[in-house]
Amino acid sequence: MDSSVSRRMFFKTSGAAAAGVAVAIPATAEAAQAEAGRTTLPYPRRRVGSVAALKVNEAVAFAYPDAASPCALIKTGRRVPGGVGPDGDIVAYSTLCTHMGCPVAYDAQARCFKCGCHYSQFDPEMAGQMICGQATENLPQVTLAVGSDGAISATGVQGLIYGRQANVL
Ligand code: FES
Repeated sequence: MDSSVSRRMFFKTSGAAAAGVAVAIPATAEAAQAEAGRTTLPYPRRRVGSVAALKVNEAVAFAYPDAASPCALIKTGRRVPGGVGPDGDIVAYSTLCTHMGCPVAYDAQARCFKCGCHYSQFDPEMAGQMICGQATENLPQVTLAVGSDGAISATGVQGLIYGRQANVL
């Protein structure tokens, strides 16, 4: 048997096999990703207020994505990150402190959320950014959408709500 032919055949065969593997990996990765995606439940779209009913610098409480998750809607009066509505100034946040889950309250004078347990503060005009205190994470921001009739709907949450492994249970 001619060993050079055998070597050529070996490389041809192994090259074809490698090409087959190279094609197979993305398909397998896509399939794995699709499988993993099945564990993520979709967010509900829920009406939480209306543009006309909001007053500047006043928090309105609601629950999202379920009754056990308190949130607050605020019209800041100035365009802010993630803000919706005609002025881009309406935002919403989970009101469970990211430190240990105590309720945070909106302080209209200071224009921030304050936690009474260990004094963390969060800025609603800066995407819920932590200002000071024991917390190390920003307040989760509720994504909003405004309809042509001025209805405000919650459509999702950016960041993990305190105490949860997934925001939608
Ligand atoms: S629970 Fe809010 S600062 Fe500790």
